[in-house]
This record gives sequence, structure tokens and C-alpha cells, in this order.
Amino acid sequence: MIPFLDLKKINEPYETAFQEKLKLVLDNGWYILGKETETFEKAFAEYCQTQYCIGAGNGFDALVLIFKGYIELGKLKKGDEVIVPANTYIASILSILQADLIPVLVEPKLETYNINPDLIFEKITSKTKAILAVHLYGQLAEMDKINEIADQNNLLIIEDAAQSHGVSKFQNSKTQIPNYKDVTLSEVEEHLGASAHSFYPGKNLGSLGDGGAITTNDPELAKVLFSLRNYGSEKKYYNEYIGVNSRLDELQAAFLNIKLPNLNADNEKRRVIAKRYLAEIKNDKIELPFWDFSNNHVFHLFVIRTKNRDHLQQYLTKNNIQTVIHYPVPPHKQNAFPDWNNLSFPITEKIHNEVLSLPMSPVLTETEVNYIIEILNQY
Ligand SMILES: Cc1ncc(COP(=O)(O)O)c(C=O)c1O
Repeated sequence: MIPFLDLKKINEPYETAFQEKLKLVLDNGWYILGKETETFEKAFAEYCQTQYCIGAGNGFDALVLIFKGYIELGKLKKGDEVIVPANTYIASILSILQADLIPVLVEPKLETYNINPDLIFEKITSKTKAILAVHLYGQLAEMDKINEIADQNNLLIIEDAAQSHGVSKFQNSKTQIPNYKDVTLSEVEEHLGASAHSFYPGKNLGSLGDGGAITTNDPELAKVLFSLRNYGSEKKYYNEYIGVNSRLDELQAAFLNIKLPNLNADNEKRRVIAKRYLAEIKNDKIELPFWDFSNNHVFHLFVIRTKNRDHLQQYLTKNNIQTVIHYPVPPHKQNAFPDWNNLSFPITEKIHNEVLSLPMSPVLTETEVNYIIEILNQY
């Protein structure tokens, strides 16, 4: 069976280095917010070209912390509305609710699976205060258009970059001046953004457990977040905010320090496989994902669509190819949201009914890719 994602194989080359790091952490005898976390925060900030990186317990907490940070700074308040794609992993939406804010769902584009910027405007009310842009499956949302809408309506931009490490062209775009065209410095300062990252094991940069981080260039937000993630305390036993316990674990940070230098090369391997899938899968029954072949995609997932999805999945299983559905039920149809169940988001629903994720990872071999393409073309 070709596994959808072989985590053991992904982590195997690092085994000796992991063991050495474990010994180092044991020798140091410092297990929470130590040198490894600090080193990773510096390295990941540099990698994302931001001034600050604040480690967190996981990607979900990273999102919640951003919202709570803005609430502490008086930039958001309970009951404010946050625009979010209807087609996303549930964590994006739950994080808004967790911060006592109101998610307002917007349909995606069928081709990119990401939020359709043209549909945002009609959802903006006097209560709308932020847009949570999700770079789903590893593809950058249309940040130039989203930034423009945010500028015009004075909205905060938060990025859910859980699936998109390495898409740094526009990530934190408001704060990456050299990479963001047509933005003056004052505009940048006005809308300092923040991105939430997840290091869940299956992510492009995955730890050996839970892990997350926030990147930003906003010094005020960073200061609050360093404190909020640690019980709202900067100085031990003195609490400035009603914080939480959500720190990036020292051991996970140590493992991430080993893996981070390979992230760009790993993303490139994913893109090479994606190019082959896009060029060589030729089957009228299968819709391939849109990609403009720039670095705006890190292919966390390679997601195809087909009318008879379950049939295709069974066929692939029979041929020893494991696939996964991301995701089978859209957020508004989940039992957790009975009030939303009658809402209609036809494009989101179509996506959830038709999507199938093919094996995709830096350790997928050429022979495996050949076989997957061959079997799909025979379908
Ligand atoms: C789009 C998206 N947002 C947020 C999260 C939350 O990350 P975590 O699982 O680390 O809490 C995930 C991953 O699971 C995700 O895919």
C-alpha cells in the first residue's frame, strides 16, 4: 500500500539528531520555555521574515491567542464579526468562537478552494473588524485583494498559515514591506498582521507532538502574546492579563530546530511531485487543482475533485493507494453547529462532496508517483 503520508519515513533521517537533542535537553534540565524554544522562535521569525515569533501549544491556540491579543489591545471586542472562508478546517472557525467573536462565512472559489475575495464585500457590516484568511491545502489566499479590502474597510488581517509554512511571498504581507507592492509604510503600520502556524506532525514542518506559533511584526501584539500564552504573566507570579497555558514545548522546539533547515527543500520536493501530477494525470473524470506554478503553493495537500468520489477512493484503495478526504463535512453542516445546518454554501458543499487528497509528501518516490499517475489514468 502506498500510504497517504508516511510520517515514520519522514522523520527517520532525523532519528540520531533527535536523540542527541533529547540528551541535550535532559542534560540542560530545563523543560519549559528554555533555550530550544527561544532558538526556534528566532529561527522561525527569520524564516518567515518577521520580527517576532511566539511559540504556542498548537495551531488552534496560536489563532485564539491572536484574537485574544487583539482584544487585550482594544482592537477587537467580544461580538465583533470576523470574515472566514466557509471552506476551511473547523479549527479556523472554532478559534473565532473561542475568543467570543462571531464567524461570518464566505464561499471559496472552486478552482483554488480558497476564499473568494469578490464575495467578502457583501458580508461586511458595521460589526466586521477582521478577516481570517486561510491558506488552505498550502495555497496562498488572494492576499493582494484581501489586503485591499482590509485597507478600504479598516479591518485586521489574521492569517491561518497552519497548512502553508514556506509560502512566505505574501504571508505576513502587511509587514513584509519589500514583498508587498503598492503599500506605504504608514499603511503597513496601520494594519500589522499576524499569522498562526501549526506544527502538528503531518504538517509541512511537523513536530513529534503538538506545536504551534504566531509570527508578526507588530511589537505591541507580540508583547501581549508572549505574556498571554504564559498565564498572562511576563514576570513570574505577576499577571497582567487573563492568560492561558499554551507554550511551545521545549522538546518539540528542539526537534523543530533540526527540521526547519530542510523545510524549503521539502516544499520544493512537494512542488516537483505536484508538477508531475498536474502534467501527467489525464482523465476526464478528474479535476486537478489550480496552481499558477509560482511559489505561492507548498502543496501541504494535493486535492483533486471527482463527481463519484467514493467510487474513485475505493478504486484507489483496491489498487493499494491510500487517499484521505479533506474534509468530508463542511463546517456549517457539522452537528456542532445546529443553527448553521440550514445555511446554503453550494460551492463549499460541492467541494466537500467531491474532494480527494492524493498521496503527497517529500518522501514519496518517483516509482510511487509513476504508479499513482498510471492507476489514475486507467480509471
Ligand atoms: C487550516 C487549519 N487551521 C488550524 C489548524 C489547527 O492546528 P493544530 O492542529 O496544531 O491545533 C489546522 C490543523 O490541524 C488547520 O489545518
